Amino acid sequence: MSTALDRSAATAGVAGAAVPVTFDGVGRAFPQAGGVRPVLRNVSLEVAAGEILAIVGASGCGKSTLLRIAGGLDLGTSGRTLIDGTPVAEFDRRTAVGFQEPRLLPWRSVAANVALGLPRGTPKAAGRERVARLLELVGLSDAAERRPREISGGMAQRASLARALARRPGVLLLDEPFGALDALTRLKMQDLLLDVHEAAPTTVLLVTHDVDEALQLADRVILLGKEADDDELGPAPEGATIIETLTVPGTRPRDRGSAELAELRGRLLAGLGIDRHGSARGIASTTTIPHFPY
Ligand SMILES: Nc1ncnc2c1ncn2[C@@H]1O[C@H](COP(=O)(O)OP(=O)(O)O)[C@@H](O)[C@H]1O
Ligand SMILES: [Mg+2]
Repeated sequence: MSTALDRSAATAGVAGAAVPVTFDGVGRAFPQAGGVRPVLRNVSLEVAAGEILAIVGASGCGKSTLLRIAGGLDLGTSGRTLIDGTPVAEFDRRTAVGFQEPRLLPWRSVAANVALGLPRGTPKAAGRERVARLLELVGLSDAAERRPREISGGMAQRASLARALARRPGVLLLDEPFGALDALTRLKMQDLLLDVHEAAPTTVLLVTHDVDEALQLADRVILLGKEADDDELGPAPEGATIIETLTVPGTRPRDRGSAELAELRGRLLAGLGIDRHGSARGIASTTTIPHFPY
């Protein structure tokens, strides 16, 4: 599959210029009866151009909210977000989003679905050519004319990735993109994402609940959660922030079994409140991450 990629052919015309993302004291509170509920607070981080940043944290801690803020789908209630140095003020066309569900239009062919991601006003011939290259990049050239119901879940997810790349985004926002796939397909998709990133090196913000996936794919992993209470200062404020930032050692593709990664995995799992009993057998992918406590 991915090893058969013709990288030089795939690269031309596919990649946008990767751009940096800055979160500067970003917070988000949602209204609730009798006041507001802080969900995110004081998130500050520089994501380098072309970096793959994984975002992990308990369910409900605000991971999707942070991605929405990065793409301008939500503006947050404090702080600022910058893409390539300019503030995100509305839905930002420098970004593209991929979700857990591929969200393909069932009556359109795979190629026509990918074409939906092209910027408005793309000349027809150039659009056709770009779609063909993207399909080649994700290994779907042979499935171009099929309908979504005629392809597997993994193929649909690849089509969705190609559609997201059609705009040549500087930043790719992926919200648990492989979460609904079976374990083997998921591993293949992880490899594919790395191939795609090599060919079209956008900045990637990847939300995942899979600690192993984060360590396999990312340059850095951030853990979102509530800060610990302080003996002297008292209880930590409500809302999640970055409680750990890990730089993942080594170059990709990483050895899934390396001892260095196992250590980081233990730290992330501990940060998520999960004990490591039986860790040698790989509990992360199947362990239910607890719900974020408010
Ligand atoms: N539009 C909204 N209005 C009110 N509450 C919201 C809204 N969007 C998200 N939330 C709340 O914010 C919290 C974080 O949500 P989310 O970012 O989806 O978490 P995660 O992706 O980490 O599971 C949840 O408690 C959710 O109910
Ligand atoms: Mg989410």
